[in-house]
Amino acid sequence: MADLRSNFLGIKSPNPFWLASAPPTDKAYNVERAFRAGWGGVVWKTLGEAGPPVVNVNGPRYGAIWGADRRLLGLNNIELITDRPLEVNLREMKQVKMAWPDRALVASIMVPCEEEAWKAILPLVEETGADGIELNFGCPHGMSERGMGAAVGQVPEYVEMVVRWCKQYTRMPVITKLTPNIADIRKPARAAHKGGTDAVSLINTINSITSVNLDTFSPEPSIDGRGTHGGYCGPAVKPIALNMVAEIARDPETRGLPISGIGGITTWRDAAEFMALGAGNVQVCTAAMTYGFKIVEEMISGLSNWMDEKGHRTLSDVVGRAVPNVTDWQFLNLNHVTKAHIDQDLCIKCGRCHIACEDTSHQAITRLKDGVRHFEVMEEECVGCNLCVDVCPVENCITMEPLPAGALDRRTGLTVSDTYANWTTHPNNPAARKPEVEPAE
Ligand SMILES: Cc1cc2nc3c(=O)[nH]c(=O)nc-3n(C[C@H](O)[C@H](O)[C@H](O)COP(=O)(O)O)c2cc1C
Ligand code: SF4
Ligand code: SF4
Repeated sequence: MADLRSNFLGIKSPNPFWLASAPPTDKAYNVERAFRAGWGGVVWKTLGEAGPPVVNVNGPRYGAIWGADRRLLGLNNIELITDRPLEVNLREMKQVKMAWPDRALVASIMVPCEEEAWKAILPLVEETGADGIELNFGCPHGMSERGMGAAVGQVPEYVEMVVRWCKQYTRMPVITKLTPNIADIRKPARAAHKGGTDAVSLINTINSITSVNLDTFSPEPSIDGRGTHGGYCGPAVKPIALNMVAEIARDPETRGLPISGIGGITTWRDAAEFMALGAGNVQVCTAAMTYGFKIVEEMISGLSNWMDEKGHRTLSDVVGRAVPNVTDWQFLNLNHVTKAHIDQDLCIKCGRCHIACEDTSHQAITRLKDGVRHFEVMEEECVGCNLCVDVCPVENCITMEPLPAGALDRRTGLTVSDTYANWTTHPNNPAARKPEVEPAE
């Protein structure tokens, strides 16, 4: 049986599934229920400074995007950090940590970008017995207008400075949570690394307006007729998060820096993908908010079964395994040729592949044969773009089949080569390295 025990920065948890800092981790009641359901750890809902807590809107704070089956694909929120007093949160964190010593409990913190503010809160958090801290440099709304959250995460110099203070004033491991609302995620990650962070976690939410009410012309969620941008999360953001995790994992300046992967994780498979791209553990918010705490059961059993099936004994057999396979476009093998193939037994003859290929790709799929609906790939036209696979409603009905070396590519009339060749040496590339000229005799 696969061993799912996780050791992230020395913080031990029975599995790599943590709840991200958000409503599911806002109070002891939730966190205890989450632990009973099986979650390996939590990052407590972000704590602010001592004193009067922040005030949330008294109305809708969520917007959503749904698939055709009304399944939630993306969630938008305009919630702030915890609106409960600091001392209440600290008291509950201490109680929970004492009652659940085998689970990870990390405190998320966001205070003003001033040394004294960080210096003041760190000992209070340390006193709770929390296993570590996560610096919230990600919240894109409300707090950022007050110079916190994403306003810090978007300035690498600030990131480095605050991480340095935290490393100076606490012995707890420091996880720096990054905002995706930035052109190049490597910059704040490098800055956090320079400041001495023990890990980065990402992503926090993405700036977004999910919809506009066309009767009132107010963005949703609407508060008294007006709206504001919120933070986007849920399954829709997973591809963005995966790329950002991979960028950090393969960056020579941050390679090896532990990563906690966040963003749209809903199933064990999502989690395994984040781990394969370099995440040592994962955090989940929207999926728990949508389906409840018990989804962790399927995450645990799914990951465990897959690892058994593949012969992976521990998480370290999986973490980072896909990183060497992430490269830049210019290094992709241009001699690798694939063609689409339609399984006629599975095809329901809906015609979606035909119309997609006909109107927007390479006119490579038939529609009729002997006057009857028949969808078949014409290899001599197919560029192997994969669009038909993506639009086909039947799973595995269209597959991409590589042509073996030595086969004739009927589209180009060339024989498929078994050698790897990329754009850096391609004759059409004006900047390509010229083939060496043999010296004259
Ligand atoms: C309602 C809501 C509140 C959130 N509050 C916080 C927060 O206080 N601190 C924080 O670091 N992230 C916060 N997040 C971001 C999540 O921790 C997480 O980074 C993000 O939702 C992406 O993960 P997901 O796709 O699994 O939801 C919040 C997210 C939601 C939906
Ligand atoms: S792979 Fe692209 S070009 Fe080939 S049949 Fe499908 S859509 Fe057409
Ligand atoms: S989209 Fe798929 S199911 Fe529909 S006609 Fe094409 S191959 Fe058949």
